[in-house]
Amino acid sequence: MTAPDGIARFLADVDALPDGWKGAFEGVDRADFAPDRIWAWDGSQYTTVIDRTQTGSHGRDTWDEAVQGNNALVTQWDDGNHTGDEPGNNPSSSASMPSAVASMLGDLDITGGENVLEVGTGTGYTAALLAARGCRVTTIELDTDLAEQARKNLAQAGHQDVIVVTGDGTLGHSEHGPYDRVHVTAGVRHTPAAWIEQTRPGGVIVMPWGTDYSTYDWTAALTVTDPGRASGPFTTPLAFMKLRSQRARYPKSPFPSDWTATARMSEPDIDITDITGALYEPAEFVIGLHVPHCVPRLVHGAESTNLWLYGADTGRGPSIAVAAFGDGYDPQAREAGPRHLWAEVQAAYHRWDDAGKPNTDRFGLTVTVDEDGRVEQRPWYETPDRELPFRH
Ligand SMILES: C[S@@+](CC[C@H](N)C(=O)[O-])C[C@H]1O[C@@H](n2cnc3c(N)ncnc32)[C@H](O)[C@@H]1O
Repeated sequence: MTAPDGIARFLADVDALPDGWKGAFEGVDRADFAPDRIWAWDGSQYTTVIDRTQTGSHGRDTWDEAVQGNNALVTQWDDGNHTGDEPGNNPSSSASMPSAVASMLGDLDITGGENVLEVGTGTGYTAALLAARGCRVTTIELDTDLAEQARKNLAQAGHQDVIVVTGDGTLGHSEHGPYDRVHVTAGVRHTPAAWIEQTRPGGVIVMPWGTDYSTYDWTAALTVTDPGRASGPFTTPLAFMKLRSQRARYPKSPFPSDWTATARMSEPDIDITDITGALYEPAEFVIGLHVPHCVPRLVHGAESTNLWLYGADTGRGPSIAVAAFGDGYDPQAREAGPRHLWAEVQAAYHRWDDAGKPNTDRFGLTVTVDEDGRVEQRPWYETPDRELPFRH
């Protein structure tokens, strides 16, 4: 089956079609994988449902346009516990944005014929692209209904060779390994040991990776260099829904509501706009590399903007901080608990600023698995031997 040339042509026009992938994008029709009911992003929010079975402004024509466009399309909300036409609370599956799909497939460095494990089958579209590129594909989806539908989509589109496994992708699928490539299409905070253990030396793992400090991800393209070790650079910023077990949770604050009254106080020497604001804010990513186990929350009030920082209990007890910035008064930071979270964030910013604000693609990640299966994630700057002094 041949796809309408919308996606392939768009990717070629914006120079986002990786070498060798033209035929696959031309040959796989996203319409064969998108369900009848989808929700598209309009630039600021998800729209009401677009339904292929209906006519009118959110019917068939809009569906065709959305499916052949460069949009992320939400295909499931709230792990399937959602009804109705309006968006749910949390998107839990999607057909990813084609330009993000293409960018990650480019990083995967496929030449054809590789044995590939995909984590996060979703609609099956990416698995079909990999199959069309000549790869042997095993793809794992946690959600039973989505896995079943993807199996049907792939078979109907002529890709019955793709093996869809219903299960937890963080465990990999050793039966079909070792893999030449592991392609992860859900956001990762803690790299599972299985992906490294099930990839042959020289193989590549591509995943959207990030820290607790950000809801965004950066593609990490890691090469397995030795058994139990994978390392490589961050390439492209993107946003993926996270692996189900790795979604952000605000650590519960055990501090009394009046904790600020007795908090340590300091005056920030940076502005809130230095570290927040942009889409895929690089400062946010770099701060995250330096400040592990810390979840921020930015609250815009009528008179001030407050950056709250919640530090997980990593053995020494939890920590909390808030830095307040407003017109007409000096900014103030308050901290409690064993960690000085605001001071950590500020120091990370200064370190990055002093280095000339290097772009995020000059950082990278090494992941090691020890004999007991314990994983350590070590971010680095420029080269793997220049590790940042922080573990994730
Ligand atoms: C962004 S979607 C994947 C898009 C997909 N590759 C496509 O082409 O349509 C992320 C998927 O990851 C799945 N997922 C989340 N956690 C998972 C896990 N632990 N194991 C396997 N799949 C998981 C979600 O259910 C969701 O379908």
